[in-house]
Amino acid sequence: MEPIAVDVKAGETYWWCRCGKSAKQPFCDGSHKGGEFAPVKYQAAADARLWFCACKRTASPPLCDGSHRKPAAPPAS
Ligand code: FES
Repeated sequence: MEPIAVDVKAGETYWWCRCGKSAKQPFCDGSHKGGEFAPVKYQAAADARLWFCACKRTASPPLCDGSHRKPAAPPAS
């Protein structure tokens, strides 16, 4: 899943969806409630176009680190 470009505004707070269930990707819509994940807070330091992770595999949440291009790890056994 490709990252999602967002024009953030300096000083604004954004809540990135970590669980993948939100209908408002890449941001949280509350769908995580009752699950194991919680959203990640991001505060923009400057006006900028940023690429938010949509695959939820980034090692640098909430921003894309290119992990969507790598094969997914096999499930733990
Ligand atoms: S809906 Fe996914 S973290 Fe809130």
